[in-house]
Amino acid sequence: MNKEFWGGRRVLVGGGCGFLGSYLTPQLVEAGARVTVVDSLENGSPDNLRPVAEQVEFVRADLRDPGVCDRVTWGQDVVMNLAARAYGMDYSRAHHGDMLVYNLLCTLNPLEAARRNGVERFLVVSSSCVYPDDAPTPTPELDAFTGLPERVNEGYGWAKRVQELAGEYYARDYGMKVTTVRPFNPYGGNYRWTSEDRAHVMPALVKRVLDGEDPLVVWGSGRQRRNFLHASDATRLIMKVVEAGVVATPVNIGYDDDVSIAELVGLICEVAGRAPAVVFDTSKPEGRSRKCADATRLRALTGEYRPRVSLREGVEEMIGWYERTFGRPPRVSQPH
Ligand SMILES: NC(=O)c1ccc[n+]([C@@H]2O[C@H](COP(=O)([O-])OP(=O)(O)OC[C@H]3O[C@@H](n4cnc5c(N)ncnc54)[C@H](O)[C@@H]3O)[C@@H](O)[C@H]2O)c1
Repeated sequence: MNKEFWGGRRVLVGGGCGFLGSYLTPQLVEAGARVTVVDSLENGSPDNLRPVAEQVEFVRADLRDPGVCDRVTWGQDVVMNLAARAYGMDYSRAHHGDMLVYNLLCTLNPLEAARRNGVERFLVVSSSCVYPDDAPTPTPELDAFTGLPERVNEGYGWAKRVQELAGEYYARDYGMKVTTVRPFNPYGGNYRWTSEDRAHVMPALVKRVLDGEDPLVVWGSGRQRRNFLHASDATRLIMKVVEAGVVATPVNIGYDDDVSIAELVGLICEVAGRAPAVVFDTSKPEGRSRKCADATRLRALTGEYRPRVSLREGVEEMIGWYERTFGRPPRVSQPH
């Protein structure tokens, strides 16, 4: 936590009541920043910020509105924009137009307002979805316009690509310090459940195991591999990349240690003390066969930061998340 960098800085967190915001905002407060959060609450909750409510100014507003963007970016030193529709694969693959247009509006408008108001630093939160399905793995920070973005997240991926491009041009044309990060699969216990089709893979699997689904039908072959990074580590890394002042060079937020979905299901079942019959449904999409980050750039920039939360600890935390969200899991009959 670099208090020298963040201490006294005025930081606007767009979408700060959401999942990643619930980790980032308290970390910024702890580092001494003067934080304002703007959030429309379309997928976030002020409860997420309860531990720091006294120290944070909260504005409920929609960042698609240029007038709002002008007001909230005024007087800020840094804008970290997490506002977006970032739902799971099931929603994303059926709503490419919505994911493209919505995500462009609530990212380009704050960027332009920040420029007009002379904000020095701006964070573009992109995604690993900018990479094509056949990208090499572990994936280095490829040029964002290599091939098509990840097919199941195509509309979302294009929005992220254009947002990155705008940030790069604004850095070049106006001298703004625009930092771009590409998170892979952050997860954690502050996840807010809305519905099955919007859920991300980790909470969706934890819920289904603890709901007692048996047989447990898992989308795809189970051989698809992912890197999971606890969100508190992801946001600490994002802060470090902003501190480093990286401009016009995207940085992956993720590592190369991946697990297969079958292994993850096994770990969740073990931690939860469940043993359902697991069926892999290959008629359903599974996304890229392997998705993990080449973390060479991240490691160099963050002084070889080592994630604090292991996957097992994170899964244990997700069991607590289930109980807080849905109550005590139903009892199940004898394991197979
Ligand atoms: N969670 C992931 O797996 C993941 C992976 C890669 C990148 N990202 C990116 O990280 C960022 C944060 O994602 P998240 O998982 O915290 O999502 P989230 O949905 O939990 O948080 C987004 C927040 O933005 C708010 N918001 C949405 N539209 C808004 C608008 N028009 N004006 C103001 N506020 C608005 C929502 O209410 C919510 O609180 C997004 O840019 C997302 O694309 C997330």
